[in-house]
Amino acid sequence: MKIAVAKEIDPAEPRVAASPDTVKKFKALGLEVAVEPGAGVKSGLPDTEFTAAGATVTADAVKDADVVIKVKRPEASELAQYKRGTLVIAIMDPYGNDAALKAMAEAGISAFAMELMPRITRAQVMDVLSSQANLAGYRAVIEAAEAFGRAFPMMMTAAGTVPAAKVFVMGVGVAGLQAIATARRLGAVVTATDVRPAVKEQVESLGAKFIAVEDEEFKQAETAGGYAKEMSREYQAKQAALTAEHIKKQDVVITTALIPGRPAPRLVSLEMVKSMKPGSVLVDLAVERGGNVEGVKSGETIDVEGIKIVGFPNLAGRVAASASGLYARNLLSFIETLVDKSSKALAVNWDDELVKATALTKDGKVIHPNFQPKA
Ligand code: NAI
Repeated sequence: MKIAVAKEIDPAEPRVAASPDTVKKFKALGLEVAVEPGAGVKSGLPDTEFTAAGATVTADAVKDADVVIKVKRPEASELAQYKRGTLVIAIMDPYGNDAALKAMAEAGISAFAMELMPRITRAQVMDVLSSQANLAGYRAVIEAAEAFGRAFPMMMTAAGTVPAAKVFVMGVGVAGLQAIATARRLGAVVTATDVRPAVKEQVESLGAKFIAVEDEEFKQAETAGGYAKEMSREYQAKQAALTAEHIKKQDVVITTALIPGRPAPRLVSLEMVKSMKPGSVLVDLAVERGGNVEGVKSGETIDVEGIKIVGFPNLAGRVAASASGLYARNLLSFIETLVDKSSKALAVNWDDELVKATALTKDGKVIHPNFQPKA
């Protein structure tokens, strides 16, 4: 059985789907590993690192592979190179991309979306949303610190006192929690908000203060899967009024609010942005899903009356070496469940809940129930 590590063709994607460590583990499972030349370069992994770990580096890597691992969904030019029946495992961004799913089905590949992995104990090691969001949350604070013309920690010096920066984190999932922890480590005074009540305790345990409208709707706002529900207009208005007052007094706002399969909720209006002091910074992690901050532009830092709105997509990619290392481990753990250890052959159990949750296409069709073509 042969597994191929593709080089990402999107120039804005520096991550890679394997590391020397996971190559060694694939080899130990009895698999052949082929890597496309230059696949790891932007993550600090030259081809020699992969060959030293036992992989073959070749431009033909994907041609006869049984499994192709990637970071992003394959484009048409990539699909044309895969043999029919190949398993292609990546972060597929399936929502709202019906044409791309159809193209993968028509190419005859079995496409798996790592981000649809169920959040159950057995699959925690395969949870790419967590592994990448954690680093994105860290990086968001680094970007904010870079764009902010002042120091984060309080400094008492002979020449005077530098006050601690006030950082407000909106949306406290995996990324938000890491943003809180990172901002705290840098010495900021941190507050945070979320619509899920379970978050309050987590925020407080990190030494930050929780701020939210805690009414009846808030108490019911969490789904069984632990995700946020879309809130009513009424709640959103109450919450906006509360946060508007708070944001005025902040130096840095980091937004990470997402609802699975939906556009990002708009949490910060342009008016709220303008209420901040000149020199303040907003970093919007939700920019790829439309943004939490009004006016945010993907890939740009814009200036609104002296206040910066930072809109980098793929923040995890801005810590590419760490992000690739964790993503590679997530993939390895999933692939281990797809291989028969004694025959060293691919043995996908299509009834396994991990497979059912992540498999998008098979035998020429889109098979995932959430993405069935509308009649
Ligand atoms: P996410 O990326 O879907 O959303 C980020 C945050 O935005 C969430 O905390 C969400 O509640 C919040 N949000 C949504 N709408 C909002 C609004 N209008 N205002 C303020 N905040 C809003 O979330 P993520 O990071 O994927 O985590 C979701 C949940 O999954 C968490 O409870 C997390 O602890 C849990 N989880 C469970 C895992 C497991 O059991 N294996 C692994 C990782 C996370």
